[in-house]
Amino acid sequence: MGIRFAPGVKALFGSSCEAYEGDLLKIIVGVSGASGAIYPLRLLERLRRNPATEVHLILSRAAEKTLFLETGRKAADLKALAHYSWPLEDIAAPLASGSFQTAGMVIAPCSIHTMSAICCGISSNLMIRAADVVLKERRRLILMVRETPFHLGHLRTMTSLAEMGAIIAPPIPGFYNRPATIEDLVDSSIERVLDLLGVPDAAIRRWNGPAEKALRGRFGENRTDSAKSDLNMNEDERMDEE
Ligand SMILES: Cc1cc2nc3c(=O)[nH]c(=O)nc-3n(C[C@H](O)[C@H](O)[C@H](O)COP(=O)(O)O)c2cc1C
Repeated sequence: MGIRFAPGVKALFGSSCEAYEGDLLKIIVGVSGASGAIYPLRLLERLRRNPATEVHLILSRAAEKTLFLETGRKAADLKALAHYSWPLEDIAAPLASGSFQTAGMVIAPCSIHTMSAICCGISSNLMIRAADVVLKERRRLILMVRETPFHLGHLRTMTSLAEMGAIIAPPIPGFYNRPATIEDLVDSSIERVLDLLGVPDAAIRRWNGPAEKALRGRFGENRTDSAKSDLNMNEDERMDEE
């Protein structure tokens, strides 16, 4: 799937994005009522700052409830972060048609209810319909399914969706970048989603090998080559000792 950005966007990301020059990257963000309202908040803040993206938001009723219970925020706070916000009942919205071209959709977090409805093609609201459209058009559908533990039915549903082409991306944090805050943990999942959507973001933290990780811990962000070689030497020495 080709990704295109608005003219001029290339300049913001450097010459490596030459192939991406073109239209804005239209991304649908669905928010359902699973636990983890902080995920769409962090994701939308990140996408809003990114001049390459145009964000279309759909929020379920249960999502509004969990958002308030978990963060004290209201639906309007999330909507303010999106370029467009579509009512769940608006089944005539552009997102309900395959002719409205998007780069893909992420549901963050994705409840078992919404996941199961997508799997069965029960397009009873705009979020589920939009996901169905993304699947049928062979676009990217990323589901941040959140529940624990999973029973066999949940696992089978996820398998079916993966077979249909969806990407099952539960919000399971990585610890290799040494998270210090809840936001760090959340961002470790959000950044993988940005990568999956093809969103260019220079702030995405990447694993650069154990030496880099240890350097961040010992020297902060101001790494120097001499510090790096010093660390490598010490690591080699440590390994020799072991
Ligand atoms: C505080 C809270 C936390 C919840 N956490 C989850 C969860 O992690 N996963 C899940 O599938 N449902 C969870 N639910 C239940 C869903 O909100 C419920 O199944 C709802 O019908 C989902 O609707 P939706 O898919 O239309 O958003 C939670 C509900 C509440 C109130």
